[in-house]
Amino acid sequence: MEHVRALLRAGRWSDLEELAQHSSPVEGLHILAVLALARQQPKEALDCIQRSLELEASFSQRNTLAVCLLACGRSQEAADLLHQLLEEQPENADLWFNLARVEVGTQALRQALRCRPDWPVAELLLAERLLEAGECEEALLWVRRNLEVPGAGLTEARIVFRLGRYRDCARLCLGLLQRHPEDQAARQWLFQAVLAAGEFDRDSRLADELEKGLDLPGALLLVPSVWRVWPERIGLLCALLQRDVVADWPLEQWLTSWRRQFRGQPEPCELAEALAVHNFTNEFCFLETAEELQGLEPDHPAYPLYRPLPPGAPASPLVLERHLLEPARERELAKQFEASDQEDPVARQYEESPYPRWRELLNEPPVAGRPDRVLVAGCGTGRHALLCARRYPQAEVWALDLSVASLTYAQRQAERLDLQRVRFLRADLMELERVMQLPLCFDLIESIGVLHHLAEPLQGLRALVSRLAPKGRMRLGFYSRRARRGLEPARRLASALRHLPLRELRARLASELDSEDFAFLAHFKDFYSLSGLRDLLLHERECEYDLSELGRMLEEAGLCFGGFDGLPLSTVDAFVERFGREKLLDLGCWERFEEESPATFRGMYVFWCQASAG
Ligand SMILES: C[S@@+](CC[C@H](N)C(=O)[O-])C[C@H]1O[C@@H](n2cnc3c(N)ncnc32)[C@H](O)[C@@H]1O
Repeated sequence: MEHVRALLRAGRWSDLEELAQHSSPVEGLHILAVLALARQQPKEALDCIQRSLELEASFSQRNTLAVCLLACGRSQEAADLLHQLLEEQPENADLWFNLARVEVGTQALRQALRCRPDWPVAELLLAERLLEAGECEEALLWVRRNLEVPGAGLTEARIVFRLGRYRDCARLCLGLLQRHPEDQAARQWLFQAVLAAGEFDRDSRLADELEKGLDLPGALLLVPSVWRVWPERIGLLCALLQRDVVADWPLEQWLTSWRRQFRGQPEPCELAEALAVHNFTNEFCFLETAEELQGLEPDHPAYPLYRPLPPGAPASPLVLERHLLEPARERELAKQFEASDQEDPVARQYEESPYPRWRELLNEPPVAGRPDRVLVAGCGTGRHALLCARRYPQAEVWALDLSVASLTYAQRQAERLDLQRVRFLRADLMELERVMQLPLCFDLIESIGVLHHLAEPLQGLRALVSRLAPKGRMRLGFYSRRARRGLEPARRLASALRHLPLRELRARLASELDSEDFAFLAHFKDFYSLSGLRDLLLHERECEYDLSELGRMLEEAGLCFGGFDGLPLSTVDAFVERFGREKLLDLGCWERFEEESPATFRGMYVFWCQASAG
């Protein structure tokens, strides 16, 4: 087959087709299989090689069969066959390498490199495996031998990140971007590294890179710090204002005072327009004085920076779109949903204050393969469900919620982001049997920040479990009592002042932010919109948990814990160092870890679980 490989390397596919025609049937089918593999048609390749094997079963054909099985994702069969072939040729480096593609760990790769030393592809795969196992020092040695190979530089940066050397990682990524300005992966790692470092070298290339990658994870979080260093980069600030809610107290204060000046001397500009759309998203929660509001009429250019525009008021197309056309579309969409039960205080809260207020989705890489069917229970305004649709592009995604206002926000965003295959339904997750359209079971059920708002969370969890397919998985999110303890003073004050309009209540809370008891509040994104504030401090019904309570609830629902999701790598590393990797699924150890680092689950406990065996 050497001449076949040579033609393949030279890209002479039509010569190969001709060669196949003039070869024996066995040889011809074998060549066609190799060609189909090169063309990324694994099923055709498998078909050809199986037909050739019916005629003759040489070592070379069985080897190609193993590669075809690998390409078709039939890993176990491929591994079994490779083990058989290795008994015949234990010094065959390619066989070891292919085996390494299906077997975890480093053993097969080390064998491959023993048989064929100085093999860049195998060395780089070994570096990746070592990185996965947290053996970073050795990983670095292997990768640094091969830095000229495409992709190796990024692996080096990721290893350096994993070693906690975030500033070095950022420098490496900047170097990569200098050589390959379109490398989005390097840009993304740059942002992650700067975020993890919590500071950055005063290199204006960071601001340049942010401008090119604003939809990458972490980018928008960096804008406030970058803006503090380069305030003249007004474009970056405007991009943030149009895409997300500013959740940075010093920046909000600056914007508030800029708005006051603009109110006095309105000069149409990019920032005024961006702030008008931003403030619509955060429900005009910034602090304001009676003086600023006095005499402010809809035809004043500053009006949409303070309140939603009424119909007919003059404004730019962007402001009209956000202030008038999008809400009108939501009213239209609301007709398709049955009205919600206003008796239920939780439904009423989310009808009045749909949550969360959001604009853009992160640029999440899609995940191949399963799940086929996903349910998002309590989808709110849709960000979560639409992220699922992005993450699982081949899956059917169903999303339900109690609140029509949330669902129409979600449906409008689905239209805008062209993710209309998500099916939104108004339904109570406690009464799934009444939702006739809903499929009977799902491979994945996600419910983040929902069950702890039910009167009976365990019953809600059981209702969801009843729709889980055999071997299905769940991703759940619950409040941590310990992580939210610091909110107590703010909660007490909010509760005492709950008669105030939310904007006034927020101003009152903001006046306390300098005190030790309240400073914590500024770290919660929910502080930066009115619906968020209500969700955070004035919820109609919520319960908080510790990890033993959660463990018991999972057990009672017949579930077992499958690991936390979304924790920063530095947290996982700290846990592994303290308790060992084998304890990652041990909630008792996590409880001790949380005792020692109470802010670990400030976002929430977000974790995977699945039905317990038996
Ligand atoms: C805090 S929001 C979370 C939204 C979304 N999961 C997210 O993370 O962005 C809680 C949502 O759960 C919904 N919800 C509460 N109880 C529900 C129930 N019994 N059935 C369906 N949805 C419910 C609320 O209407 C609200 O939209």
